[in-house]
Amino acid sequence: MEVVAYLDHAATTPLRPEVVEAMAPFVDQRYANPSGAHALARDARRAVEEAREEVAELVGARPAEVVFTSGGTEADNLAVLGTLARCAGPAEAVCSSIEHAAVLSPMRAAAQRTAAVPGVPGIGLHEVPARADGVVDLDALAAVLGHQTVLVSVMTANNEVGTVQPIAEVARVVRALAPRAVLHTDAVQAAAYLDLAEVTAPCDLVSLSAHKVGGPKGVGALVVRSPHDVVPLVLGGGQEQERRSGTHNVAGIVGFATALRAAVAERPTERARVAQLRDRFADAVLGAVPDAIETVPRTATLPGHCHLRFEGLDHDELLVVLDRGGVCASAGSACASGALEPSHVLVAMGLDRAQARSGVRFTLGRTTSAEEVDQAAAVVASAVASLRSGC
Ligand SMILES: Cc1ncc(COP(=O)(O)O)c(C=O)c1O
Repeated sequence: MEVVAYLDHAATTPLRPEVVEAMAPFVDQRYANPSGAHALARDARRAVEEAREEVAELVGARPAEVVFTSGGTEADNLAVLGTLARCAGPAEAVCSSIEHAAVLSPMRAAAQRTAAVPGVPGIGLHEVPARADGVVDLDALAAVLGHQTVLVSVMTANNEVGTVQPIAEVARVVRALAPRAVLHTDAVQAAAYLDLAEVTAPCDLVSLSAHKVGGPKGVGALVVRSPHDVVPLVLGGGQEQERRSGTHNVAGIVGFATALRAAVAERPTERARVAQLRDRFADAVLGAVPDAIETVPRTATLPGHCHLRFEGLDHDELLVVLDRGGVCASAGSACASGALEPSHVLVAMGLDRAQARSGVRFTLGRTTSAEEVDQAAAVVASAVASLRSGC
């Protein structure tokens, strides 16, 4: 298999070499369980706590506020279910309709479960629409907030179209209209490019994932800003201050901190470099396929995102031809690719089924080069031309 261009960095990013190096001793010689009582255990525990301090500092939290999890999905579930489990009496939860399934599914499950139990006060759920430009509709958000609202979740940046959400404004509206609400943001996609210490400062809960910043898969964190707390989902040995039981993934946690540190250090230069390459790619495709449509304005997205629609084509067919041409891209979130349903994000933005199924997400990142994007643009242009000509 010859890969011409890996343009699927929003699905996952290649491991950084320094991360591989930092993780290696913990896969091999420094293998102890950090909860143990001997020298080797203390060594592993020190590594976990140093990583915690580092992650905390990089995202503007205190070390005690960082709960390591098995990734972004678990962090989102812990934020949603761990908050709603604390609510007694009738309550309402609110999220944007363009959230990742890791937020939408637990929100819907909690609402359905409580609705199904007679005599138990239910949790009402409001899914707030997005505007056509992929940004959550703040007026619609304000309209559903109130004293009954116990949880609001709006992502920092969308994984499919890449739109950066107005978290500061969301927080202002939530604090003004829903004083009881815990505010959660899923910052999984934003971590590589935005200053999370600043952007997520008004949020009570923040979800992170290592593999979107050049770290390993299967590790992430939920920042739980005091005085809020979450009811644990995983019970057992009481690790992570009773918030998340299970033997620590020491190598993964060390890799996560190393990756985040590297991402933050290179962020200023990478933001500009990646945005320039994204523009070069988008312009080249639009030059060769003039009726291609940019789904959202580039200025509103993370620098690596380029979501294009090719009217009349179906993304599944296009992705097969792109794959044959060595271009790795996707139809939306990695979990949804292969599914026949149109993207819930594009539908929430007001696109019809055919329009939604004509969209492809190209995401650039740290390893992307000019040569790669030029080759990819040529492959995209010829794939569209061949599908349109029926060949
Ligand atoms: C916005 C967002 N949230 C959550 C997740 C899930 O993270 P993980 O793959 O670490 O479970 C992803 C992964 O694609 C994502 O893009």
